[in-house]
Amino acid sequence: MLSEKLLNEMNDQVKYEMFSANYYLAMSAYFMDLDLPGFATFFRVQAQEEQMHAMKFFDFIDEVNGRARIQAMDEPKGDFESIESVIEAALEHEQFVTERIHLLMEIAVEEKNYPAVSFLNWFVDEQVEEEATFQQLMAKIKRVGAKGHILYLLDKEMGARQPE
Ligand SMILES: [Fe+2]
Repeated sequence: MLSEKLLNEMNDQVKYEMFSANYYLAMSAYFMDLDLPGFATFFRVQAQEEQMHAMKFFDFIDEVNGRARIQAMDEPKGDFESIESVIEAALEHEQFVTERIHLLMEIAVEEKNYPAVSFLNWFVDEQVEEEATFQQLMAKIKRVGAKGHILYLLDKEMGARQPE
């Protein structure tokens, strides 16, 4: 069972995870337009992961006898100034999602809803990974730059990402 408060927050999280998927797809489209297929693939795979996250919440809500609600979403930003600004935007977005997951966890702990705590633990770990991914990528781009031959190699490396 979920309290009304936790159910509402979890339903909002379904929306945020779906929004994340759309946001990363918009980034993928930006890179496709720049003729950087590797970066485009990386963000496409990232979008698929976010869809999976949304479905985890969707299924959990059902498992504990709640009903998932599908809400309207804002259009994600799709124009960026540079490769660096996309990675920066992705990192900032993941930091926002981490705050959301922590808020859900705080409510679950406060309400002693242990099934929800157990479910949310996976997301706490996942967010550490998500932030680290974009932080490392940012550091790499700052170190080597993203131009000419280096950009070609970086794009190739980014394109090696496989769906999980
Ligand atoms: Fe996510």
